[in-house]
Amino acid sequence: MQKILIVDFGSQYTQLLAKRIRDIGVYSEVVQFDDKISLDNVKGIILSGGPDSVYEEDSPTLDANILESKLPILGICYGMQLIARKFGGKVETRDVGEFGKTTIKITNKSKLFENTDKEFNVWMSHKDVVVEVPDGFKVTSKTNNGIIASFENEEEKIYALQFHPEVKHTTFGETILKNFVIKVCDVNETWKLADFVDEKIKQIRKTVGDKKAIIALSGGVDSSVAAILTYKAIGKNLKAIFVNHGLLRLNEAKEVENTFKDYFGIDLTVIDAEERFLTKLKGVTDPEKKRKIIGEEFIRVFEEEASKETHCEFLVQGTIYSDVIESAKSGKKTAKIKSHHNVGGLPEDMNLKLIEPLRELFKDEVRSVGEILGLPREILYRHPFPGPGLAIRIIGEVTKDKLEILRKADDIFIKTLKETGWYEKVWQAFAVLTPIRTVGVTGDRRNYGYLLSLRAVDSTEGMTADWSKIPHDVLDLASRRITNGVEEVTRVVYDITSKPPATIEWE
Ligand code: XMP
Repeated sequence: MQKILIVDFGSQYTQLLAKRIRDIGVYSEVVQFDDKISLDNVKGIILSGGPDSVYEEDSPTLDANILESKLPILGICYGMQLIARKFGGKVETRDVGEFGKTTIKITNKSKLFENTDKEFNVWMSHKDVVVEVPDGFKVTSKTNNGIIASFENEEEKIYALQFHPEVKHTTFGETILKNFVIKVCDVNETWKLADFVDEKIKQIRKTVGDKKAIIALSGGVDSSVAAILTYKAIGKNLKAIFVNHGLLRLNEAKEVENTFKDYFGIDLTVIDAEERFLTKLKGVTDPEKKRKIIGEEFIRVFEEEASKETHCEFLVQGTIYSDVIESAKSGKKTAKIKSHHNVGGLPEDMNLKLIEPLRELFKDEVRSVGEILGLPREILYRHPFPGPGLAIRIIGEVTKDKLEILRKADDIFIKTLKETGWYEKVWQAFAVLTPIRTVGVTGDRRNYGYLLSLRAVDSTEGMTADWSKIPHDVLDLASRRITNGVEEVTRVVYDITSKPPATIEWE
């Protein structure tokens, strides 16, 4: 498959850039600037923006491979300054940068600006500016303040933009990217999700042959789509295992069983391991300890079940593109906040070969694949749910009684959001049961119940989040329904903390 490679220098817009190229119908992939870069099937390279200045010590540089490849290059913001510096132009740091909307005027004809207006709005975010372009390059546009907004060497197919075409505020952003990809890089293979699905199914069939593959199904979007995709490829040779650790939401285990076993006919084993997990969690209050126990126990249960399967050679995992990028990044300087557990983190020493059919896809693409494969909307648009489940939403010791209280309250909150149209407007919503007891009155009697918190956030990919501005009357409805329907809860509060400084989950 022909592709456009995006080299990430740390811009907040890199993923967006990859997405925009795919939306044009061309396959794109992101690599980190210091990765070992393979240029197989690459038709063009985009250098992203980034927070550094090319004159800072240790600022990221351009891989020599890229320059020697003679492939078309488009440098954006930091990428532009890299090109200027590399080819002998001059870059200066200004005291005051340009951030936000600016107007540019085209000063010279360029393939990039075909089908755009002569003057239009663009989105800038920079302090460094190119004051002299390298020999052999020509300026093609300037801002109203006279700053060079783009330059190029048409013969060498090297283009540079000071502004961000991937941001919606850049009026002709999509046209510019399309011009680069189609007119400059000459990509003639289009990327369509439906083709991707057919291709993947064929690939999996070929890889697995008449052997067997196993998958740990969690009921979340990623593992569900991975399971159905693999099932379409190898049918009964896919063995799905669903470990019910007893920390799931109301009716969740039943829904998974109904969908995958009864509706799709997948060979699914549901393991009821509630007692096992609750016994291990008895008396444990430390959040990290809870996470560790659940993660380890999950692997143990899965291994025991998997070892019963003979001739099983493959393990299918629902790893998606953001997981791949995140784990690449987290190798660098990220401090550990929580030890995440998910079904993507199964043991490597199981001697199974890994199949990750969704590795190249973004979350919304994974959902579209799910739609193509006929997965129900309730699964595809379900909010993310952490591997350790409700255990990290019960502060303090996890008990059967507390799980029941939280399940009931959470279900009421979620149903209220669905009913009022807020469920799909927020990124994630749930209830948290605190160990705080508080006095209330229920039917003229004193009731010493629990304090429950509701949490709803707006986010993309969960890395940062803002608390959702759900209208007061919706919160009021949820609060009244919870205190009426769940006797053990006497007080409901709403969490108004963003991430950072808080995290999305409470533990
Ligand atoms: P935090 O609490 O770290 O959560 O801000 C960010 C997102 O990740 C989810 N989350 C997890 N997902 N395994 C998962 O698969 C985990 O152990 C885990 N912990 C948190 C959380 O629900 C939110 O969407």
